[in-house]
Amino acid sequence: MNIREIDANSVAEIELVAGRMRDTLVEVLGAAVGREMYSLEWLVARVRWHLDPLECNGAVFLAVADQEIVGHTIVRLEPDDDGTHFGLFSTFYVAPASRNQAIAKELVKHGENWMRGKGMQVSRTYTAENNIKLHNLMFQNGYEIILRKNDMVVLSKFL
Ligand SMILES: CC(C)(COP(=O)(O)OP(=O)(O)OC[C@H]1O[C@@H](n2cnc3c(N)ncnc32)[C@H](O)[C@@H]1OP(=O)(O)O)[C@@H](O)C(=O)NCCC(=O)NCCS
Repeated sequence: MNIREIDANSVAEIELVAGRMRDTLVEVLGAAVGREMYSLEWLVARVRWHLDPLECNGAVFLAVADQEIVGHTIVRLEPDDDGTHFGLFSTFYVAPASRNQAIAKELVKHGENWMRGKGMQVSRTYTAENNIKLHNLMFQNGYEIILRKNDMVVLSKFL
């Protein structure tokens, strides 16, 4: 397995990640809420937004095994309340057949290194309060819950 940046010129890769963002919403929030939340077009635009340096300081990383894209994470720099910035994991996804092989763990390490390279001292992610898989993944990598609000949690770590 190796991790590389998405090809920003590849419509197929961008659409694959957008489709898996939708799969993530369905898995975490349930089919009724997850499918209705955002259109596929909006999710495609959201991936592209992360890749446009005029809009965002971000990156999309793909985990590739045997030439198949088996997972992804999206990271970006996010302004904090005090005017500083932190590194944000916007999303993670690993295809069901490739789970429990430490792929997400490698995506966390890769994303954190990208954040360190941008001078960030703090990494965070947001997820549903009941997304125990993601909580455990982040706990295992040194994150703590720093806020619970409206069924969501914020997990944070000093890099
Ligand atoms: C969460 C997710 C990314 C984990 O991917 P993965 O590659 O299977 O995770 P890893 O194999 O790297 O596991 C790392 C750690 O995560 C936690 N974890 C992973 N799967 C878990 C599960 N089914 N139950 C509980 N903890 C789990 C464990 O702490 C695990 O460490 P361990 O194997 O030493 O116990 C994957 O299950 C997924 O894509 N879920 C749906 C999408 C999602 O919820 N994304 C996050 C929303 S922002």
